[in-house]
Amino acid sequence: MSSYQTRRCSAAACGLRFPVAEGLTLGDRCPHCGAATDREGDLYQTHGAREPERDPPPTGPILEVLLDNVRSLRNVGAIFRSADGVGVRHIHLGGFTPTPAHPKMAKTALGAEQSVPWTHHPDGALAAERLLGAGHRLWALEGGPRASSLFAAPTPPASAPLVLVLGHEVSGVDPRILDLCEAVVRLPMVGHKGSLNVAVAFGVAAYALRYDLRAPAAR
Ligand SMILES: C[S@@+](CC[C@H](N)C(=O)[O-])C[C@H]1O[C@@H](n2cnc3c(N)ncnc32)[C@H](O)[C@@H]1O
Repeated sequence: MSSYQTRRCSAAACGLRFPVAEGLTLGDRCPHCGAATDREGDLYQTHGAREPERDPPPTGPILEVLLDNVRSLRNVGAIFRSADGVGVRHIHLGGFTPTPAHPKMAKTALGAEQSVPWTHHPDGALAAERLLGAGHRLWALEGGPRASSLFAAPTPPASAPLVLVLGHEVSGVDPRILDLCEAVVRLPMVGHKGSLNVAVAFGVAAYALRYDLRAPAAR
């Protein structure tokens, strides 16, 4: 837990309101216009959301993840952090996907790169074949002609671990890996964009699957 205070810029034309950690003089000046700031209200504590005594365990399938050629260190770090939160069992890193061996991964993974087991596979398609051979089910999180909404796909049985496959930020999931997947599921996009950021897509899908939050018709 950390203590924070709220500061407000004294310049009428600015009025920026922002948080500063207790004891930091950094907030004495407005980061926007440089004018002096005033403190507003009392110090307050920040809280994490970890409450294992209150939260029932997830009832959805055991989840593993295959990230095939996901380029961005920040995206992979964010996926590790979400994977830790939702209880992913293992992350398989394929192709040029950066691994926790990279010293900057901790910037976005914030320690989750130590808590979630992972392995690196130079050839992600070969890794997918091996996972299939070991009895895992493979679902690609991807758009395209084969894709159906994640919220309408039948719940996979809990008997076999489900590997969620995500792909490159621009080219998506490798077609050879797609062919190995028993299902291709997409997150509906009702705005103007064709896809989400890969780490955001992972977070939404992983929580929906692990906590079985999909529409009752899909269960
Ligand atoms: C940004 S997308 C790739 C670009 C995408 N093929 C396109 O044409 O816009 C990167 C990865 O994020 C995941 N992804 C992003 N948005 C998604 C969505 N709406 N449904 C399913 N997967 C999604 C997929 O795993 C995809 O391979």
